[in-house]
Amino acid sequence: VLEHGRSILDRGASAVEAVEQCASLLEDDPLFNAGCGSVLNENGKVEMDAGIMDGRDLAAGAVAAISNVANPVQLARLVMDGSEHVLLIGDGALHFAEHCGVKLTPDHYFFTPDRIKQLEQARLHHRIMLDHDDEGEEQKYGTIGAVARDRAGNLAAATSTGGIVNKRMGRVGDSPIIGAGVYADNASCAVSATGYGEDFMRTVFAKTLADIIDFRGGDARSAVDEGLAYLTRKVQGRGGAICIDGAGRCASGMTTKKMIHGWIEHGGEAICRF
Ligand code: GLY
Repeated sequence: VLEHGRSILDRGASAVEAVEQCASLLEDDPLFNAGCGSVLNENGKVEMDAGIMDGRDLAAGAVAAISNVANPVQLARLVMDGSEHVLLIGDGALHFAEHCGVKLTPDHYFFTPDRIKQLEQARLHHRIMLDHDDEGEEQKYGTIGAVARDRAGNLAAATSTGGIVNKRMGRVGDSPIIGAGVYADNASCAVSATGYGEDFMRTVFAKTLADIIDFRGGDARSAVDEGLAYLTRKVQGRGGAICIDGAGRCASGMTTKKMIHGWIEHGGEAICRF
């Protein structure tokens, strides 16, 4: 995914194009909790959220509580580029998808045996949980996100998720909430967050990282460190984030044990952390 992002940015793609394409690849991978392989809600259904933001002009698009769209991030992009709105939900978002010519995908595409097992476990223990709550190899494939800076220096961010396991029907997390799970502003940074969405909404997490740089100065590293310290101090928040600043410096951090992530900084080597 990182190399794909590099190659299209090298060919002159915009940061928005890069985050949309990279997020789509992650949505297509059944290991992750977005698109195919999304977690299941209390009714055993997939309800997905996604958001995308362009740091050039703060244009943003998002969809929430949607089903039967293989790439929610692409629908979020359509909302950004092709509607007067920022956030569309549920049936309204699906109606808009059909209006845009997006083909709906049958339920079975999204379901994986692991997610069915995970819901059974969550129900058994009466828990609503992150899909990667516990230790163990199979437990760490969560919400997906991408941030990028293009050759023109523009920033963009995208986040997409199935949410949390056994969540209530209609629950919306931080991923499609601009400023909570996704944010991009050329003047500061682009951020994509993962974790318990409620914690990230209550702290307006992604915008907080941007504000740290905007109002105080600093870089992606200091913003992630201060932002996660704030998340912990205020709400004992659990999750993590990736961030790129206007100078192309990358940073990541988490308060959970694990978060699969990687970056290519200033055209260097691809670094992956598992
Ligand atoms: N951060 C993903 C969610 O809570 O839905």
